[in-house]
Amino acid sequence: MRFIHLTDMHITANDQPLYGLSPRSRLEAAIACINQDFADVAFVMMTGDLVNRGTVAEYEALRATLKDLQAPHYLLLGNHDGRDAFRQVFAEVPVDENGFVQYAFTVEDKRFIVMDTLNEGEVGGLLCEQRLNWLAGELEALSGQDAFLFIHHPPLRLEGGEALAEMIGGGRIKHLFFGHVHRPLHGSWRGIPISSQHSTLHQFVYTFGSSIMQGCHEPPTFAAVNMVNGNVVINPHSYLDDSPRFNLRSKAAMRAASPEELPPLE
Ligand SMILES: [Fe+2]
Repeated sequence: MRFIHLTDMHITANDQPLYGLSPRSRLEAAIACINQDFADVAFVMMTGDLVNRGTVAEYEALRATLKDLQAPHYLLLGNHDGRDAFRQVFAEVPVDENGFVQYAFTVEDKRFIVMDTLNEGEVGGLLCEQRLNWLAGELEALSGQDAFLFIHHPPLRLEGGEALAEMIGGGRIKHLFFGHVHRPLHGSWRGIPISSQHSTLHQFVYTFGSSIMQGCHEPPTFAAVNMVNGNVVINPHSYLDDSPRFNLRSKAAMRAASPEELPPLE
């Protein structure tokens, strides 16, 4: 089974450009690639900052663009999202008993848990007692299935993160997927495997010693996540890459002195 992890699309109303880019075109390009090259995925998970300002108009624009995506998709909220506006436009997305956009679903024998870390008006994320109590119930209901967690904020600086680590550590959650950082980031947190991907739009520059929070147009990726025999394999896919493809076993390709000299693939 495989699925796609896509994040931080920052869709705007009327496709208002953001940092020199068209949010809608970027999402359309990702969708076209998924439809064509990843048609067998079980689902596409989008880990927040679905839109840029959390307005109804933006969610309507998102909804219109997502119509072209052939695979089932799941959504969660980031700090740029607005819970009320989201719920108005995406009324079919489940919420928990307190109105947080939290739900879980099963594919094959795996359980996928989606949490809401939005702390309205704040950049940083929050998992309050209510949200963690909901998670406790979900974890309790697992019957030996492998479980995976999706949130927007990286768990490292998440308010409520310590409590979360205690709840999901020890193998209770096999992998935690998140967004927010607009960078591919892979590693572990408190022994829990974690990963994130580029935004579909602008990226953060990973740099030290600058007082400016720098952005850039490094090409975006989404992750094709393969789950086979209990393993989780994450392949970041640079879906805007249009560099030439060549046969690795072709001697002419090996000897090419420039990309222009590469023989065509066929
Ligand atoms: Fe973002």
